Amino acid sequence: MEAAYREAARQLAQQKRCVVLSGAGISAESGIPTFRSKGGLWEKYDPAVYASIEVFRKDPSKYWQIRGDFIRDYNRYQPNAAHRALVELEQAGIVRQIITQNIDGLHRKAGSRQVIEIHGSLREITCLQCGKQYLAPNVPDGTPPHCDCGGVLKPNTVLFGESLPPQALDSASREAQTCKTMLVIGTSAVVYPAAALPSLAKQHGARIIEVNIERAFPDADVVILEKATVAMTRLLEEIRTFIV
Ligand code: APR
Repeated sequence: MEAAYREAARQLAQQKRCVVLSGAGISAESGIPTFRSKGGLWEKYDPAVYASIEVFRKDPSKYWQIRGDFIRDYNRYQPNAAHRALVELEQAGIVRQIITQNIDGLHRKAGSRQVIEIHGSLREITCLQCGKQYLAPNVPDGTPPHCDCGGVLKPNTVLFGESLPPQALDSASREAQTCKTMLVIGTSAVVYPAAALPSLAKQHGARIIEVNIERAFPDADVVILEKATVAMTRLLEEIRTFIV
């Protein structure tokens, strides 16, 4: 693993302007369950029932059943060392953009400024009837909660069956096509279109560095099989040896 850290650090320090693609694995050590790895959310709840727009329109209580507690406890969840390492790498000019599939808001909470939340965020909630905006954790009680106007509230996240925010997807694709290095952290890379971004980057000449506890992206050039907090802390130390 020594060589992988050295090679990844050299690549990141020399190429600079890296684009990060993060998934649920980067937030696992902040106490937020992933979806598909051991003990993941989709082991307990069928996403076709609990996270699809078709069901939400008929019965919004299902999605609120799995997301209400997180939203009302929003301030309790804190970024971890992996999120903080990315803030430092952004400030050092090494990371130019984070594209996250996560809806937990932890990259922004950590202080990252260039963040594309490609699946939206649980931070903002909208009334489907009058458009009034609510901010987590301040939403009315109830599963689902209702707006003062009586309308149903929906978090600004992308449910299965919904298209991604076009602007976010365009920016993410542009970043993937123009980066020299893509650092892929904690994603199973199975949900499209986000999962296509590493291949898109590779097709445009980027080198792919994967940080995960198990292999997920077969075409990675450098693989660090380690928990995100350990890997990113170690990678930061290695990169410092390249920065004069
Ligand atoms: N450190 C690094 N990687 C980890 C850790 C950890 N501590 N814990 C788990 N992982 C890895 C797992 O090995 C797995 O590859 O994180 C990945 C989590 O995969 P998923 O649970 O599928 O999450 P993600 O890839 O983000 O899912 C993509 O699917 O359901 C949708 O919208 C949802 O954004 C989500 C999308």
